[in-house]
Amino acid sequence: MKPIESVNYSVFFENSLQELSVFLNQKNYSKVFVLVDSTTEIHCLPVLQHVLEPIKFDLIEVSPGEENKNIDFCIGVWRMLLDFGADRNSILINLGGGVITDMGGFAASTFKRGIDFVQVPTTLLSQVDASVGGKTGIDMDNVKNIIGTFTQPKAVFIHTPFLKTLNKRELHSGYAEVIKHGLIYDSKLFQKLKGIVPEDIDDEIIYRSIEIKNEVVKADPFEKGLRKILNYGHTIGHALESYSLKHDQSPLLHGEAIAIGFICEAFLSEKRNGLKKEELSEIIKTVQNSYPAYKLNKSFYPELLHIMKNDKKNKSGQISFSLLNKIGACDYDIYCTEEEIIESLDYYLTCF
Ligand SMILES: NC(=O)c1ccc[n+]([C@@H]2O[C@H](COP(=O)([O-])OP(=O)(O)OC[C@H]3O[C@@H](n4cnc5c(N)ncnc54)[C@H](O)[C@@H]3O)[C@@H](O)[C@H]2O)c1
Ligand SMILES: [Zn+2]
Repeated sequence: MKPIESVNYSVFFENSLQELSVFLNQKNYSKVFVLVDSTTEIHCLPVLQHVLEPIKFDLIEVSPGEENKNIDFCIGVWRMLLDFGADRNSILINLGGGVITDMGGFAASTFKRGIDFVQVPTTLLSQVDASVGGKTGIDMDNVKNIIGTFTQPKAVFIHTPFLKTLNKRELHSGYAEVIKHGLIYDSKLFQKLKGIVPEDIDDEIIYRSIEIKNEVVKADPFEKGLRKILNYGHTIGHALESYSLKHDQSPLLHGEAIAIGFICEAFLSEKRNGLKKEELSEIIKTVQNSYPAYKLNKSFYPELLHIMKNDKKNKSGQISFSLLNKIGACDYDIYCTEEEIIESLDYYLTCF
């Protein structure tokens, strides 16, 4: 599987960690830093360290979790870079899930007006989604990714054996983005996913999923148009994710929330954008195959609508959607009314 060529960098797939070693040997970096969280330090760092030998690096470690993707932890990263004597010819290797690749990318893109960084994503979600496309960022005041930059990494290295230690919920969460890539761009990929469960995912599917994300972001790096199709399932999904984070004891993970969004937004796609009834049923079945029912309740609706109205992607107060016109093709900038959104949430309740 040859490297996938992105905007101005490559996504290495085969022997990717050896490729990272070659990359570092070719560039003459003054210092190499590796950013990990305490989980990837245990599960992934030893593998990386072994392959990079004898290249020396300084380690920066943060606590895992979205709640740490903030300016305080970012300052911690900048401070460590300073303390270890990073200069503009240093490189940061981000070894972790989307929290690490987003925050490390942001820290590197702003430190001394920008130093090189590469992504070594270790979750399914970060391999097929977060590490490709050049969006870096941190959260503030519970608003996700509100501070950030568009900065491309120097390269991305995908090592799928890292996924072996990922827990089931995290694997299922990342798998939702794979389903999304099929739904918005590649009906053949979607057909393949229909018969399997997330645990069956293989390198071919992961590779194809990255290719799709890459094609879309390459065509529209700054999200002026086409890139918005990646938001399919995310208008309602994001609202549910925020709601659940605030109210649930065990909150929904990102992919679990957008999987609910797939059902609601497939309903809206059928109502508003020409998706066929049979395709709607196929989508529901596929989602039900991998995700349990969420205890959605009508009493959540006012807050969910409030969150959707405040989404940064809206224009002049209207709630914006990316909707399928068939399986494998998606349109964007479609505005739905509150009544339609409520109908789609009601529809979800009838599915389980
Ligand atoms: N930049 C983008 O385009 C983009 C796109 C999608 C998502 N994101 C961001 O990605 C983040 C979510 O990413 P995520 O789901 O990877 O979250 P994450 O980084 O929090 O990882 C999830 C958990 O898995 C652990 N983990 C990581 N690799 C592991 C491994 N190999 N084995 C065992 N455990 C491992 C982590 O320590 C963490 O506890 C969000 O902050 C989201 O905003 C960014
Ligand atoms: Zn997503």
